[in-house]
Amino acid sequence: MIFKLATLALSVAAFPQSEPQVGQWVPAGPNDVRSPCPIFNTMANHGFLPRDGGVMTRQQIVTAFKEQMSIDETLTNQLLDATYLLGLGNAHDQTLTLASLNTHNAIEHDASLFRNDAFFGDNHTRNLTLLNQLISYSSDGQTISIDDLARYRKDRFADSKARDPNFTFGPKQEFLAFGEAALLAETISPANPKQIPIAVLKAFAGDERLPVAEGWVKRTDTVNDLNVGAFAAELKIKAGVFNS
Ligand code: HEM
Ligand SMILES: *[C@@H]1O[C@H](CO)[C@@H](O)[C@H](O)[C@H]1NC(C)=O
Ligand SMILES: *[C@@H]1O[C@H](CO)[C@@H](O)[C@H](O)[C@H]1NC(C)=O
Ligand SMILES: *[C@@H]1O[C@H](CO)[C@@H](O)[C@H](O)[C@H]1NC(C)=O
Repeated sequence: MIFKLATLALSVAAFPQSEPQVGQWVPAGPNDVRSPCPIFNTMANHGFLPRDGGVMTRQQIVTAFKEQMSIDETLTNQLLDATYLLGLGNAHDQTLTLASLNTHNAIEHDASLFRNDAFFGDNHTRNLTLLNQLISYSSDGQTISIDDLARYRKDRFADSKARDPNFTFGPKQEFLAFGEAALLAETISPANPKQIPIAVLKAFAGDERLPVAEGWVKRTDTVNDLNVGAFAAELKIKAGVFNS
């Protein structure tokens, strides 16, 4: 026992600034890379994926998304298959880095929910002004409903189209934009109805943190291609078809 305590004291003294524990939320430091995707950034901020945003395996990603946010393994694997097909990451090793996700017009696109267009410089850090704009679309002051999200999605498109001289938004970008909004709502809303509590949205999209302190719990069922597809389709009907 005494020996054990002595070893413990020694190790604490030897590593005064030891790595934070897995699960602990630590925002990115100056040498850490982040992506345009809030779930990857959140996982890295909690240490469920490498905190520096460096090389991560397919299995690490699938496990982190499933265990922390109830994302179905099949859905994550399909999204990762598409990611490698688009030329991001290292398909041979089946690894990714967060930096690889920043490639413009692979997945990363203009008129994001709360990120600047690449034309304006930084294409991947969340923009709190845009996030607050989304929050201002709340009809009840507490949550973002699918109707609020549809109106915002439509207006973000119009805003980028008006201000970005290099605006690029075709069918691929439209598909991705509706899919991302659906992933967001399906992942962080309470199971039903699909209304995103504002406090939960601020934590996940703003802090890039698991919104546990805000009362969020992961779903007991999974976020899968059926419920994400259905939400995306309904959102698209409500928002209308875009045309750049
Ligand atoms: C597993 C494969 C995934 C990859 C490779 C990926 C990658 C990306 C990339 C590159 C973007 C940037 C698009 C843009 O320009 O706005 C993005 C956005 C987004 N992703 Fe992911 N993502 C994945 C899965 C997920 C999951 C499971 C969620 C669930 C919460 C999610 C939530 C989002 C949201 C909400 C955005 C929009 C951010 C914004 O508009 O500012 N993603 N993702
Ligand atoms: C500008 O638009 C072109 C054509 O769509 C695209 O290839 C390029 O990546 C865009 N660059 C920026 C910074 O938006
Ligand atoms: C995306 O953002 C990163 C970091 O700010 C920057 O290095 C990169 O050039 C940007 N990509 C484009 C196409 O603007
Ligand atoms: C955030 O977005 C707003 C509105 O598009 C823009 O005026 C502002 O410059 C952006 N902020 C940053 C830090 O990029």
